[in-house]
Amino acid sequence: MKNSVLTFKEAKQAKKKLTMLTAYDYSTAKLMDEAGVNSILVGDSLGNVMLGYEDTLSVTMEDMIHHGAAVSRAAKNALVVIDMPFMSYQTSVYDAVVNAGRLMKEGRAGAVKLEGGREVSSQIKAITDCGIPVVAHLGLTPQSVNAFGGFKIQGKNEEAAKKIIEDALIVEEAGAFCLVLECVPAKLAGLITEKLSIPTIGIGAGNACDGQVLVYQDMLGMFSDYTPKFVKRFANVGDIMKQAFRDYIDSVADMSFPAAEHSYAIDDDVIEKLY
Ligand code: KIV
Repeated sequence: MKNSVLTFKEAKQAKKKLTMLTAYDYSTAKLMDEAGVNSILVGDSLGNVMLGYEDTLSVTMEDMIHHGAAVSRAAKNALVVIDMPFMSYQTSVYDAVVNAGRLMKEGRAGAVKLEGGREVSSQIKAITDCGIPVVAHLGLTPQSVNAFGGFKIQGKNEEAAKKIIEDALIVEEAGAFCLVLECVPAKLAGLITEKLSIPTIGIGAGNACDGQVLVYQDMLGMFSDYTPKFVKRFANVGDIMKQAFRDYIDSVADMSFPAAEHSYAIDDDVIEKLY
C-alpha cells in the first residue's frame, strides 16, 4: 500500500513502528521499496556516502533533485522524503518555499526534510501552508557541524535537553508531520516521543521512537570511513562486493570470463570469409 503522511499519523496512533532508510539511486530504492520500507529518505548524507565529502555542507539543490528524482522513479509504495540542503532554506522563508517546491516538482518528493527548531519554524509553517509535508530534524543536525564543534551527541545536559524538547513542540506546532531525532539520549527521545502527537524517527536515539532510520551504506557495511556507535550492520555487503570485484579481476586475467555463454556466436562460414 502507498505510504503517505496518513500512514505516519495512523502508525503513531496504533503504536506501529515506522521504517525509513536512505537511498540515493534507482536500483537501491527499488529493492527497499519492494522490501516494504515505509519511507525512503534521500538524505543530504549523499554528500558523505555518495560524493565523498567530509560533511554535508557542499551538497546542492541540483544534487538533491538529481538523486531524488531517481529514487522517486523507483518508489511505488514508500513515501519519498528529500532533504533540503544547507543554505536552501536557512536564508529566508521565500527561499525555503521556492526550494521545497523544486524538490516536489523536479525531484517528485512526497515530503521534504529540513534541520533545526525555532529558528526555522517560519520556514516549516510557510512550506506546509503550500501543501508540502515537512519532516523536521533535531538533535545532531549535521548541517550545523561547525556550530557544534564536531559530530557529537546532543541534549546531554538539562539546558540542552530542555531546548530540544521545546524545539520539538515548536516544529510540531509549525506543521511538521514527523520529526527525526539524531544522536540524542534514548530516554530524552522517549520523553519527546511521548509529548508529541506526530511520530518521531530515531537515528542514534534509542528504540522508544516511533520509527527508525539508517543510512543504507552503514547498515550494509558499504561505508568504512567511519561508523557511528548507533549503526547496526545488518549485512556485510561491502565484503561481498569486494570479493566479487576480486573474482572478476581474476576471471578476466585467466580468461574464464567471458565464457561461451556470455558471448555471441557467428556462423563459421561467415567468419572464415573475413580472414
Ligand atoms: O541525511 C541523512 O541521511 C539524514 C539521516 C541521517 C536522518 O538526515
